[in-house]
Amino acid sequence: MQINFTGKTVAVTGGANGIGNAAGHAFAEAGAKVFLLDLEKENPQAAAERMGGAARGISIDVRRRESIESAFAEMGAVDVVAVNAGIAPMAAIEDTTEELWKRMLDVNLTGAFYTVQAAARRMKERRAGAIVLTASTNSYDGEASLIAYNASKSGILGILHTAANELGPYGVRVNAVCPGLIHTRLTEPYYDQPEALREYFRHIPMGRGGSPEEVANAILFLASPAASFITGAALLVDGGQMACKYSLWSETTAEFRKDHWQMK
Ligand SMILES: NC(=O)c1ccc[n+]([C@@H]2O[C@H](COP(=O)([O-])OP(=O)(O)OC[C@H]3O[C@@H](n4cnc5c(N)ncnc54)[C@H](O)[C@@H]3O)[C@@H](O)[C@H]2O)c1
Repeated sequence: MQINFTGKTVAVTGGANGIGNAAGHAFAEAGAKVFLLDLEKENPQAAAERMGGAARGISIDVRRRESIESAFAEMGAVDVVAVNAGIAPMAAIEDTTEELWKRMLDVNLTGAFYTVQAAARRMKERRAGAIVLTASTNSYDGEASLIAYNASKSGILGILHTAANELGPYGVRVNAVCPGLIHTRLTEPYYDQPEALREYFRHIPMGRGGSPEEVANAILFLASPAASFITGAALLVDGGQMACKYSLWSETTAEFRKDHWQMK
């Protein structure tokens, strides 16, 4: 089956950068009319213009319900919503201030809830639609110095399951992607440290991080008719990271080249 979104309208939150932007591009290439929703300072309209005629940018802040509601009013009927906006500042448990905790949950969890709620109301009425949330491998594991992030991404699974359960009878599917380490500005600090990457990628069967486009492909699949009997699913897009128990790659049999492991 070919994935084709001709005639469909797609909204992507956090669409001006990284995974969301790659998803916007992929949906546009598949024929969709795309709305990139992002913070004003990220200039979503300029990001949309870089994608050509099929895209538009709208400034929103997912922490503010009224800004999401007004974007939905502006977009008209939306067939697919990718709930993707997120932040990931790091801090040890004891250094996680109340401000950081609240900001993280406001953007990553409450923002996702507001977006799903706005989409659900409209899709339920139309008896059709697909929502794809960006969760994370951190929805399951406990990566250090990310307690608020990990809590927010675990919470995304609660939103996923509840929304899939409630909206399934109305023909609305809700799924999530769970990316591992993907090369975006969010993870740039890792890519600036080859030694950290070498150690991180020892635990990834594919020996490398992923690209935003590789996550975008999974989002497209879950949003498409090719996934017509899939709802409530969380799809790992992590090069096998969550399947790995012990470090796999060693200098005995492989070598690390810049940003990936390769067998000798
Ligand atoms: N990069 C990774 O390794 C990785 C792994 C797992 C999950 N994720 C998740 O993927 C999603 C996208 O991250 P990315 O890596 O592409 O990062 P990114 O920083 O490139 O993109 C995130 C986007 O979200 C937007 N955003 C942040 N706060 C917002 C707000 N209040 N309102 C509206 N938009 C807001 C940002 O402006 C940005 O454009 C996030 O939810 C992130 O948690 C990323």
